[in-house]
Amino acid sequence: MFVVVGVTGGIAAYKTVSLVRDLIRGGHEVHVIPTEGALRFVGLPTWEAISRNPVTTSLHDDVPQVRHVALGQHADLVIIAPATANTLAKMAAGIADDLLGTTLLATVAPVVVAPAMHSEMWRHPATVANIETLRARGVRVIGPEDGALTGGDSGPGRMSEPESIVRFALEVAAPLRQDLAGLRIAVTAGGTREPIDPVRFLGNRSSGRQGLAVALAAADRGADVHLIAAHLDADVRATASADPRIRVTDVGTATELQSATTDAATHADVVVMAAAVADYRVAAVSERKLTKESGDGTRTLELVENPDIVAGLVAERRPGQTIVGFAAETATGDELLARAARKRERKGVDLLAVNEVGWDRGFETTDNTLLLLTRDAHGDAHDDAQPASVTGTKREVADALWDAVLRLR
Ligand code: C5P
Repeated sequence: MFVVVGVTGGIAAYKTVSLVRDLIRGGHEVHVIPTEGALRFVGLPTWEAISRNPVTTSLHDDVPQVRHVALGQHADLVIIAPATANTLAKMAAGIADDLLGTTLLATVAPVVVAPAMHSEMWRHPATVANIETLRARGVRVIGPEDGALTGGDSGPGRMSEPESIVRFALEVAAPLRQDLAGLRIAVTAGGTREPIDPVRFLGNRSSGRQGLAVALAAADRGADVHLIAAHLDADVRATASADPRIRVTDVGTATELQSATTDAATHADVVVMAAAVADYRVAAVSERKLTKESGDGTRTLELVENPDIVAGLVAERRPGQTIVGFAAETATGDELLARAARKRERKGVDLLAVNEVGWDRGFETTDNTLLLLTRDAHGDAHDDAQPASVTGTKREVADALWDAVLRLR
């Protein structure tokens, strides 16, 4: 791919050196266009050496080659990293007073920006409006992340890590498969919360990240997506609501999740139960906050079993409907395989995606490993065969899950 990397004047420019190196290692042709400000942080020889191409900031070099538009015309992808508040403003206004500005006006390639700035600048209404304008024009934005900023501040403003930017940008530029077009898909995600009293609940560590990745992958591949969201981490919830292609229904308890999902399933061709559903709820939810007054230092909560939602869906399955379950397991090796095979059989799902979890595995991470256990096209179980194992970002394993669903259908 012919990639133009615009570098603007922020300290994060030093990280863009490794971004360019990663692209080169991936076999891409890279042309770096720094702004004058960027060169105060990382010098021209570094960009030339790392990109293996000549680098200039000026509109007036190479005039016969019409360099000011040629790079933009050739580009398959443009990445701006870091993107300062100033550059975002110039992009929003279409200002073209340097080589990067003219290149951006001359390109029809996908543009990805990775903003980096102090939190105040990121939150300023001017920047917020510029980002909105750029997004509406199809520019894709990655980050900024929360964390330590130059000068000891911390907050949103750190440029995303180079590997994440590269992965995201290549995904944006890859021609999207539309192999789920026409399918109506319901995905549940997140963890249910079972109230104990008005201020407390029984919950779990599910962030909703894997479920959202499944929903986003389906939307990218052309499906009509309904996300039934139990409790999600705030950034996951924000991403879900920011995506106009995804309809979101919020639920709290397993019972609410059951009713929303049963409803959604009546219109769905595929249902993916990625939510972490509480097996039990509190038998008698207290109307008032429980106190410690009982005295003997212990408290017993009576729990009653929640309905198995996925079992209900399987029992009511519409002809041609595919049902996918998830299983979070702390077992490993052969024990994991045996448990998973039994679970797929017992639940009657077409596909069971098995997630190994532990204190430090499976949750709050961006990467994941899934085992995919399927029945074959005749409805026979394939569980004694070695199930497919996929490892990657939650998005990558979500795509592998959809590939497996398509093979089943
Ligand atoms: O039995 P286990 O909880 O491991 O099963 C996990 C799968 O079953 C997930 O797909 C989950 O969404 C679903 N589930 C359900 N209803 C429950 C518990 C789990 O549908 N009460």
